[in-house]
Amino acid sequence: MALNGRDKWKAMSTHSHETAKRVLEAVDQSGAHYGSGFPMIASENVISPMVRRACDSDLHGRYAEGLPGKRYYQGCDDFDTIETIGIDLAKKVFNANFANIQPISGTVANIAALKAMVKPGDRITAVSTADGGHISHAQMGAVGLRGLDLHTYPWDEDRMEPDVDAAAAMIRDTKPALALFGASVFLFPTPLKELADAAHEVGARVMYDGAHVLGLIAGGVFQDPLREGADLMTGSSHKTFPGPQGGFLLSNTDDEKMQRRLNNAVFPGTNSSYHLHHVAGKAVALAEFEAYGASYAQDTVTNAKALAEALAAEGFDVLAEERGYTASHQVLTRHGETDSGAGRAAAALLEEAGIITNMNMLPGDTRALSPSGLRLGVQELTRHGMGPDQMQDVATCFRRALIDGVDPAQVKTEVAAIREGFTDIQYCF
Ligand SMILES: Cc1ncc(COP(=O)(O)O)c(C=O)c1O
Repeated sequence: MALNGRDKWKAMSTHSHETAKRVLEAVDQSGAHYGSGFPMIASENVISPMVRRACDSDLHGRYAEGLPGKRYYQGCDDFDTIETIGIDLAKKVFNANFANIQPISGTVANIAALKAMVKPGDRITAVSTADGGHISHAQMGAVGLRGLDLHTYPWDEDRMEPDVDAAAAMIRDTKPALALFGASVFLFPTPLKELADAAHEVGARVMYDGAHVLGLIAGGVFQDPLREGADLMTGSSHKTFPGPQGGFLLSNTDDEKMQRRLNNAVFPGTNSSYHLHHVAGKAVALAEFEAYGASYAQDTVTNAKALAEALAAEGFDVLAEERGYTASHQVLTRHGETDSGAGRAAAALLEEAGIITNMNMLPGDTRALSPSGLRLGVQELTRHGMGPDQMQDVATCFRRALIDGVDPAQVKTEVAAIREGFTDIQYCF
């Protein structure tokens, strides 16, 4: 018998309700998966309870086009307070004259920065994606979107950074409008001073994408781009800087025209609703970072070095041994021949063992989907209170899963047992 309209609607809404419940079930399962394992993806982090409260607030549904005190909509008085506090804190925490805290991601911050700083057809220099540059620095991303003529730096594979002399010569030769630095694979500080000098010499502006290392920079343990020649720094607010997902634009320019260009490039240039709940979350995260950021950044780098050393001692091929493996939150490991896909296989096996990582291209790899390596990050484990002793435990679990060939389900129970002691979020109010 055919269903009448009301029964049809009832059947549909029951089905829709089941679908919505199924989504929430998967949301909870994802939380449990990360919560009982070792989350080691270098671009991720967790938010504190106070940041979560800001993000899960009425602001979620609001708009505030413009800047504090200059809004298009009514109803923004309280949000003006929030964003003003956030901007002031961002200037303080990143030691900058100018901050825009509206971008909804690091990628959007980069798109806005390129809109403000270069014109279509301009030349730009950047790290190639094969050497660890981000997709937004490439033709497939923001650089292509802006119609820029991209030239990538000569790379020193041993030092895992631009070859300083060759890159400086290339910048002098290429004469870009913008020299962009920073990357997604980021073990060591960029030799920025020398390269920024070369860029400024030929009239280029200098942009530093600190998406990954923003918390380490603000914590004073990596490098200080705004004092080493960067005219503008962009970054994500949710990697080593442990806030909600979003982005920042930061500069020391006192040129009001440039400040206006940067603000306009964010709104109306690349955002309309700029996720007010996340702006509030960023403001809270900045306050927490002011209190705890220096020790969090230091502990993160200490843990990365401890993990690298422990993995090497367990028999893994850890990159950049001569330079002490790492000066950031990241560690790179090689699991087989170049382009062999060994990194993909290792990441899959580790996930079965409760360890969440990502495959990554290493020097020499040419195929992004079958690389030989892994990129590991310790910023999230650190935030859960793990220290160098636990980094040894993590390395032992890696060995048991990847070298000893222990059943991954068995390793997963060992991982979960270790993780049980480290569930609370630290370095926050
Ligand atoms: C160097 C770099 N820039 C920008 C981004 C993009 O950040 P988001 O994911 O916040 O858009 C990333 C992401 O990992 C990155 O590694």
